[in-house]
Amino acid sequence: MGYTLDDVTRIVLEAKERAHQETGNEPEPEFTSTVEWPIECTVGPGLEGAIACETKIGYVNGKKGWLIYRGYDIFDLCAYSTFEETSFLLLHGRLPSETELDLFCRTLRRRMFIPKTQRSLLSFAVEERNPMDALRLGTNLMRQKQIRPGALNAGITGETVASDEDSIPMETKPTGWKKPVYEFLERLFRPVQDVEPSADAMPDDVESFYNLIAGVAAVSATIGRARQGRMPLEPLPDLGFAGNYLYMLTGRRPSPLEERVMDICLILHADHGMNASTFASMVVASTLSDIYLAIGAGISALSGPLHGGANVEVVNMLEEIGSPEAVPKWYKMAVAEKRKVMGFGHRVYKAYDPRARILAPLAEMLADESPELVSIYATARALETEVVSALGEEKKIFPNVDFYSGIVYRSMGIPADMYTTIFAVARVSGWCARVAEYLEHNRIFRPRAIYTGTFDEQYKPADER
Ligand SMILES: CC(C)(COP(=O)(O)OP(=O)(O)OC[C@H]1O[C@@H](n2cnc3c(N)ncnc32)[C@H](O)[C@@H]1OP(=O)(O)O)[C@@H](O)C(=O)NCCC(=O)NCCS
Repeated sequence: MGYTLDDVTRIVLEAKERAHQETGNEPEPEFTSTVEWPIECTVGPGLEGAIACETKIGYVNGKKGWLIYRGYDIFDLCAYSTFEETSFLLLHGRLPSETELDLFCRTLRRRMFIPKTQRSLLSFAVEERNPMDALRLGTNLMRQKQIRPGALNAGITGETVASDEDSIPMETKPTGWKKPVYEFLERLFRPVQDVEPSADAMPDDVESFYNLIAGVAAVSATIGRARQGRMPLEPLPDLGFAGNYLYMLTGRRPSPLEERVMDICLILHADHGMNASTFASMVVASTLSDIYLAIGAGISALSGPLHGGANVEVVNMLEEIGSPEAVPKWYKMAVAEKRKVMGFGHRVYKAYDPRARILAPLAEMLADESPELVSIYATARALETEVVSALGEEKKIFPNVDFYSGIVYRSMGIPADMYTTIFAVARVSGWCARVAEYLEHNRIFRPRAIYTGTFDEQYKPADER
């Protein structure tokens, strides 16, 4: 009880220590020298094993359970960095200077204020849509300026949002105030000339990436608010990205501990190799389509239960199980029904997922702070023991990033159906970084399929079939 920010850092460093004891800490790159194309590799269905490009952005070692962003160990980033700094690192390839970081944080905060998109979004009754569907829609609406990735300074502009801006009132203070305010407050964030470069001074692509990182968070928060019948909130000037996201989503100023834990969650989800949603974004961008559509493709791919949607399924499953005592019986039934246990297994990790190594003790800490989490956390731990003892050794099935993240989000009062949008909020930086890197040497994606159909069918008119 009474955990501090130092405790959070300690928990992350203890997880790092355990990981390194179990897996060693020497990097093990597949290629140490310049890559010579074409490359020979063994490809399985779903492009498993296929190598599509080179990258300096991130490295996942599935056998050992390592995750590296731009050379930095995920454990160190979670212990010492912030989501803003990590996003800058992913996008620009290096950690920012103090001035650059300050500027980047201000830029993101300013761009979390996107009244036009938020208000346009509210005219689509987003509270009735699946949150990921609404997020994809909001991302498309964010496309105020049509910019083709890779076409720097193409000068193609055009309003794609046409809505009556004043028709939807904005509540600009959290509910709980004596009376909600349905008018715009004096702007909290005025553009400061010497703080944020003007849009003209920034390459179009970079400007879009910043818009997307800030904007997807603001849209996600708007959707969460709308689903509770509330109006969007503006970001606060004294909160960082994670704090503002939480505030704008829940309408409650987060505690420093909540802000820090959310920051770690965003860092952990920011990038992860050529996963399905990153690949989807890259495929769309490789056609030189619009970057907002490319990120929309990432959001679509992420929404499925085999990818980002798993964290919602995990919480539903833990609720279905009900208690730690019920785990053995439930698991027997799941095996008999050949059900996959949500939050376990991974295409790449055949060892304990380093992200779960960090999230598990954080969930434990939060459960220690909030009595209503005790049972769900204990059920999760019991299920982990059951599944790992049955499948760990034999099939290399361990908890993945989605297994404990839902418990963490629940401690912050976030409704389960919003969890996958949090994943998207974080992953936008990885999607943008990977798209930008790929477009430097763009080649449109075009794999092949092996035709196993027939050749000699005779066409018959419909009335003869
Ligand atoms: C993530 C996932 C799609 C990876 O799939 P994959 O690499 O194609 O692995 P496979 O589905 O081929 O599984 C390999 C074996 O492990 C088993 N397995 C994999 N994940 C399992 C799980 N979550 N529960 C039980 N068994 C699992 C499979 O049944 C299969 O067994 P078999 O060899 O007897 O047929 C898969 O593990 C899964 O569906 N997990 C649950 C959803 C989830 O948590 N997704 C979030 C990922 S971050």
